[in-house]
Amino acid sequence: MKQSFDKGFLTPHPVFIIAAYDENGNANAMNAAWAGQIGGNQLSISLSSHKTTENIKANKEFTVSFATKKYVEACDYVGMVSGNKVPDKLEKCGFTVTKSDKVNAPVIDQLPVAIECKVIELQEEFGETRVVAEIVGMKADESVLTNGKVDLSKLHPIMFDTVALCYREIGENVGGAWSAGKKFM
Ligand SMILES: Cc1cc2nc3c(=O)[nH]c(=O)nc-3n(C[C@H](O)[C@H](O)[C@H](O)COP(=O)(O)O)c2cc1C
Repeated sequence: MKQSFDKGFLTPHPVFIIAAYDENGNANAMNAAWAGQIGGNQLSISLSSHKTTENIKANKEFTVSFATKKYVEACDYVGMVSGNKVPDKLEKCGFTVTKSDKVNAPVIDQLPVAIECKVIELQEEFGETRVVAEIVGMKADESVLTNGKVDLSKLHPIMFDTVALCYREIGENVGGAWSAGKKFM
């Protein structure tokens, strides 16, 4: 029998590393899990007050990289300390950046896939900043591609388990989308 709970939860969440420049052109990044896709070409992120939030408000452009198993410690670290207190936080955890050619934002060299985004809406609600952005480009290392497409079995992206408060690796392919259900047609 199912038990009732007072509060619900949604899991898993993605683990996005959001990177943006500050007003002096210094790169910073943070971990964001309260994020998702809207339609085919937009994403939304719910941000509290952070250095990255200020950078995105000022610049209106940023990148989103997928956190990976190989870099789990660095991806967690950028979600634990603020660039306001540790200005060289990227350097400290071994991340380097290259400026995107599509947006005025840094791409983290070590993370194989980055999405390039332009802000289309900033909403201040319930003490949070909701960022809605258009995806204007994407970069991926050759090493994670199969037939020109990102291959998750090569990328090893991680997800955030909001119950156990840990990161989990995304697992095996267990059935085709719009395909496994054909069994019942
Ligand atoms: C797993 C995880 C998920 C997080 N998700 C979010 C999020 O979705 N929104 C948010 O505002 N902060 C989130 N944070 C907190 C920020 O990443 C953290 O406060 C970070 O230090 C901010 O860095 P900055 O001040 O240099 O921008 C998350 C942290 C972790 C560890």
